[in-house]
Amino acid sequence: METTHRVFVGDARDLSGVEDDSVELVVTSPPYPMIEMWDDLFVELDPSVGDALESGDGREAFEAMHAQLDRVWDELERVLVEGGIACVNVGDATRSLEDSFRVYPNHARVLEAFESRGFDPLPDVLWRKPANSAAKFMGSGTLPPNAYVTLEHEYVLLFRNGDVKRRFEPNADRRYEAAYFWEERNRWFSDVWTEVRGELQELAFESDDGGDASDLRDRSAAYPLEIPYRLICMYSAYGDTVLDPFWGTGTTTLAAMCTGRNSVGYELRPEFLEVFEDRVSGVPTLSRSIGRARLDRHREFVRQRREDGNSFGYEAEYYDTPVVTKMEREVRFREVVDVDPLEAIGATDEVDEGTGYLAEHAPLSVPES
Ligand SMILES: C[S@@+](CC[C@H](N)C(=O)[O-])C[C@H]1O[C@@H](n2cnc3c(N)ncnc32)[C@H](O)[C@@H]1O
Repeated sequence: METTHRVFVGDARDLSGVEDDSVELVVTSPPYPMIEMWDDLFVELDPSVGDALESGDGREAFEAMHAQLDRVWDELERVLVEGGIACVNVGDATRSLEDSFRVYPNHARVLEAFESRGFDPLPDVLWRKPANSAAKFMGSGTLPPNAYVTLEHEYVLLFRNGDVKRRFEPNADRRYEAAYFWEERNRWFSDVWTEVRGELQELAFESDDGGDASDLRDRSAAYPLEIPYRLICMYSAYGDTVLDPFWGTGTTTLAAMCTGRNSVGYELRPEFLEVFEDRVSGVPTLSRSIGRARLDRHREFVRQRREDGNSFGYEAEYYDTPVVTKMEREVRFREVVDVDPLEAIGATDEVDEGTGYLAEHAPLSVPES
């Protein structure tokens, strides 16, 4: 099986490289309005943002920044199939302007924007960001009432395009083989994720040519691989196409390759494509390690569950292990065996240049136990 991965250097407010109804899932993280690291970018997109910030009008700046994101959300409604899911990772911002401190609730504004475009909101996820400093508390130390709660969480907002679920052909193998284990379901479909910096992240950055992972994340605001990896497993099937309109360093594409889905991305900054070139060489090793780690964790779960006196009703078809539910029987992991760059994708007025990759997949190789 092969998957294709296209990346356009261009402005996602116009996704003209992506056809109507051609994407089954969106996984993305926009620049967060009112977080200072993105001020210049928003001013580039709309100079009136700069005027609002300079005059200390936080509300107006917040609205002007979201108006730029709204134009991307308009495009998502067009390219996403009916019943396709959009997952938007976003955090709120705290900021003082003209000596006035407040929170800018990005999650609420994005939720409103999607709902008004005909998306149905689904229950969302909170994930906890790393927090390691006692100096993080804002405001007046230990005196009431002017200290402020520290934001240590981000949202993954979830929406369905329209009010109808996606349909699959009866007994679609690509859906049944993309099943996840019961115990994974229990962790992934919980509404608070506390361990997203976990195992996958360490594996992900083994392949970063020794680069400093946290430094990369600081410069690009890259999210942990585990976030798009889980979301893709949760909300799409093998062979689907995943779009990230705010592609950054391509973490979503990395996850799409590892999960056997196609992907397409838009990114304004061409330098991030170079970062991705370094990351992509590690994909075969990464996809194999992730698949094997999932199987190992499942075997550990089986051992523990048996030790607790519970039994299993079903056997997996492709692996020597029992499973809890009938739906898991056909679960089948894949690994990437090769990734090749595609020729540059044709430029248009809106898209200056682009690139792409072809990934070849095979069933996960599992060492004899
Ligand atoms: C929060 S970062 C995404 C990081 C990404 N999830 C990753 O893991 O590397 C947002 C990205 O969107 C890009 N961006 C912002 N506005 C854009 C637009 N209108 N069109 C395309 N890309 C945009 C920024 O350059 C930045 O790389």
